Amino acid sequence: MTQYDDSGVNDVREDEWNIDRARTVYGIGKNDLHFLDVNEDGDLCVRLRGQSITFREIIQRLETSNGDSPSYTSSFTLRIPGLIAHQIAKIRNSFLKAMKDLDYSGDFLAVYPIKVNQRRDCVIPVIMADRKYGLEAGTKAELELIKAVIQKEKDRQIVCNGAKDPEYLNLILQCIEEGYNMSVSIESLHEANMIVDLFDPERTDLVLRIKPYLSVEGHWSHSTGRDSKFGLSIHDLHDVVDLLKGKGFESTVRTILAHAGSQITDTKAFRRFGRFMTGLYSELRSRGLSELHVIDFGGGLAIDYEGALEENHTYAYAESIIRGVKDALAEENSEVPPPDIMIESGRGVTALSSMVVVKALEVRSVFPALSDISDLKVKAVREKASKFLEEIEKSSSASDLAKISDRLHRDLAADMDELQEILESESAIGILEKSVRTRLRTLGFTSADTLLPERSFWHPEHIAIGNFSVFNSIADHVLVKQHFPAIPLTDLHLQPETTVRLADITCDSDGEIANFYLQNTELPWFSKDNRPITMPGGQMGLGIPIGSLERLPDTGFVLALTGAYQDAIEMDHNLLGDLPDVELHLLEDNTWSLRWVTGAESIRKILEDVGYLGLGTDGDPYMGD
Ligand SMILES: Cc1ncc(COP(=O)(O)O)c(C=O)c1O
Repeated sequence: MTQYDDSGVNDVREDEWNIDRARTVYGIGKNDLHFLDVNEDGDLCVRLRGQSITFREIIQRLETSNGDSPSYTSSFTLRIPGLIAHQIAKIRNSFLKAMKDLDYSGDFLAVYPIKVNQRRDCVIPVIMADRKYGLEAGTKAELELIKAVIQKEKDRQIVCNGAKDPEYLNLILQCIEEGYNMSVSIESLHEANMIVDLFDPERTDLVLRIKPYLSVEGHWSHSTGRDSKFGLSIHDLHDVVDLLKGKGFESTVRTILAHAGSQITDTKAFRRFGRFMTGLYSELRSRGLSELHVIDFGGGLAIDYEGALEENHTYAYAESIIRGVKDALAEENSEVPPPDIMIESGRGVTALSSMVVVKALEVRSVFPALSDISDLKVKAVREKASKFLEEIEKSSSASDLAKISDRLHRDLAADMDELQEILESESAIGILEKSVRTRLRTLGFTSADTLLPERSFWHPEHIAIGNFSVFNSIADHVLVKQHFPAIPLTDLHLQPETTVRLADITCDSDGEIANFYLQNTELPWFSKDNRPITMPGGQMGLGIPIGSLERLPDTGFVLALTGAYQDAIEMDHNLLGDLPDVELHLLEDNTWSLRWVTGAESIRKILEDVGYLGLGTDGDPYMGD
């Protein structure tokens, strides 16, 4: 079935293009990209508290003041610690508002799981932002870090999760001795046995970590339910409770915890989760854990990487949890006190605070410069191509065009062995794909179904080479296919000329970003070369829209929302290490300060990491410019 729109008014004309459209196309200013904007000249800017600074200005300032710094490179990671404080306040306010709206009398508690980003420029802003925010450790090393950063504020809660050995438990005991406010999770019967042997029930605050028996969709769905690697199975829970009661530890259990997975975009799942956890909470209280009064819902608050979540999704998440808790309390029909609600959001706290500014080095073209079919010199190719062109021009349905496109790829690629033939066939394919796109536009297709977004005729014809490594800066792009928004730094005031893939300088074909989320508009919008850049309903597409291909090498892209996990899991593929770190602060008087924190990791340091001492230089391994 095709859809034919007689009016043919299915897109935006060039003269109708404006920066509002650019905001829509790239999701700028929406949800978690609220700190980005576009100015009248089409420059991308950071916008905080009503003040704007363009990336062009940031880059110029860095070049002027740090161009001669050791390991200066044209790409860098931009950190905005102020966005962490913004997120912390947003999370707390969302819960407080949801509690008020739903007339819920429990308290709100939160800890930041430092595994998400242990960098100083993340952890310090968390504790500076909120005097009551706690921290979560997953290992001995993380606990050592936490001890050091809150040594003057020992009343902040520290939740110790993760697999525990006697050394970890002894470190926790030492922290208790020193006056820190420690909560220790029990994740197995084995851990429970060690804890009852080592700990004093008078000075112990326990958390029972339970496998979240909940079905949710997402990358980390295997971290929920009975297959979860973490937490007590329901059968273990019974044994652990019996053990704790037998050893006089029943009143040390204050909290139950379950982490339902990361990046849970289905907010409704949290209501089911709230209900499940509250049912368990009531049951455990009735089994004698009378001091139990906190439910810790772990992490899971999603970040809007695609610009596709509902507005106010942080509030929706908080509301969903509290509704679930209330549902269960109402079902219990007893005197169970409403539990305090605790969360361990990680991604939700740090993702916004860093982004990678990638310098474009050059633009490569997939096809030879396109001309006209009549200009093709090899007769066989010219004849085949002319026949296909005729078919394209006569076709009246999108599915026919898709079939023609498949055939032309097969036929024109067949029997080519001479360079000239390959060249001519490549030209012919490029010209015909363009004709297919034009025909689709002329026929006025308007729906996602008929526009067949995965077809080759939408594939970008240009590859921008960026001075970065996907593996070092956004490893989750390859590990779990995490989407990170890629936005050009300039020329956003122009209707996009075409779309590109952004490839890095590693020699791995996974080192590129081709995905681009097509935002939901009533009718699809197109680039000047007829590629869809928005789509009714919104969906993942291919190719980053670009205002001017020619000027791209003077500028580049921002890869946004990289502040969660990417620093912790970076890889030095091809011996490309960390990019320079630059901090941006908006000061009280509304002026900006830009601080060059470190240069790129030097070749010498990277070689040392793989066992070669005294080799290399202090220069950085990225491309000079
Ligand atoms: C126990 C626990 N808490 C919190 C988090 C943080 O999750 P998120 O970043 O989705 O908020 C994780 C992540 O794996 C976790 O395992």
